[in-house]
Amino acid sequence: MILIKDGRVVDPASGMDEALDVVLEHGRVKALGKFPQTEEYERIIDAQGKVVAPGLVDVHVHFRDPGLTYKEDITTGAAAAAAGGFTTVVCMANTKPVVDSVETLTELLGRMRQLPIHVLSAAAVTRNFGGKELTDMRALRAAGAAGFTDDGIPIVDTGVLFEAMKVARELDVPISLHEEDPALIAAAGVNQGEVSRQLNYGGAPALAEEALVARDCMLALRSGAKVDIQHISSGVSVEVVRSMKRLGASVFAEVTPQHFSLTEQAVLERGTLAKVNPPLRTERDRYALIQGLKDGTIDFIATDHAPHSREEKARPLNEAPSGMIGLETALALGITNLVRKGHLTLLQLLEKMTVNPARFYGLDCGTLKEGAAADLVIFDEREAWTVEEDKFHSKSCNSPFIGMELYGKVCCTICGGQVVYEG
Ligand code: DOR
Repeated sequence: MILIKDGRVVDPASGMDEALDVVLEHGRVKALGKFPQTEEYERIIDAQGKVVAPGLVDVHVHFRDPGLTYKEDITTGAAAAAAGGFTTVVCMANTKPVVDSVETLTELLGRMRQLPIHVLSAAAVTRNFGGKELTDMRALRAAGAAGFTDDGIPIVDTGVLFEAMKVARELDVPISLHEEDPALIAAAGVNQGEVSRQLNYGGAPALAEEALVARDCMLALRSGAKVDIQHISSGVSVEVVRSMKRLGASVFAEVTPQHFSLTEQAVLERGTLAKVNPPLRTERDRYALIQGLKDGTIDFIATDHAPHSREEKARPLNEAPSGMIGLETALALGITNLVRKGHLTLLQLLEKMTVNPARFYGLDCGTLKEGAAADLVIFDEREAWTVEEDKFHSKSCNSPFIGMELYGKVCCTICGGQVVYEG
């Protein structure tokens, strides 16, 4: 048994925010209350002055395994997740090979089950991400696919996507979409606007995202599928999702910490480290994303943790790959840029990082009520720290936040009743 003493227990699923002790036993939350320190506990963790919350859930990470393990692998990815306070993550399928067959998925899930945290995998919507032929979604789901996505590559063919949504609806499983119409993109990873003009770089306009978001919300409405609009970046997209939710579409949206924290200006300051698909946009977009988080249009915060090697990111802007790591800075960026700025309460921030994504995927996690899985994070909301390049647990260090001072430090992550990280 573990006793976590005197923490501020914040559990968005029940609305709880109070000073309590938490007892863990046999991988579950045994009790919440006030308990004396006795010898029956194998460990007592002093959480005074700290927040005790459900382990964070990230529905969008890239662990690059199989095939691209010079960037990350499932072991280092899981270590980065635990260090960031995450106990459940969903890996995207853009590996090498793509996770589009039962064999690839089964092999991967076998290894994932050995990890100290819950690492799940999505499977591809289309074979080899070709955008034309659907994978055997039923067989992949039966083999354990958490959901379906061609993330990284937008699905251009409307008919193919509508068919996929109908199967996803039948299986009652999420389908997650990267929304950028390639026909409208001159050069990926940088917003088409002031900064791209300055750099004489073609850029990716907000319209490329908005057009697909509008289309796919309609497809979601008509198919009844549960759709995740991934890494939403444009204010107009937020408005489209807002109205389509009102119409009754089962549309959910995720935003990344980079999109609510930075703007296109970061490309001028951080170069390729700020190159990401969809791109960082304008202050006006950033503000609209925050409004979307506030009014519930945006349901989840997801990192899109996208490791790339130093050599790859050292290439010129037009050749470097898009993406940035995010698991180890996500909570602190939320605390620093959303909670401390007064946009969200801590409870609201954690709602977007625990119970909302857990419910969307139908997972047995994301809450601390009695009987729940003993997956927790303990953090100091007030502790300041500087993001340092050589401190990441990830195999890669492609973060535009290096050198920044953030608030909110993870002290301890517990998964299945076992301590999996201590800071
Ligand atoms: O910038 C990105 N990088 N966006 C994505 O959607 C994919 C990701 C990657 O896999 O590197």
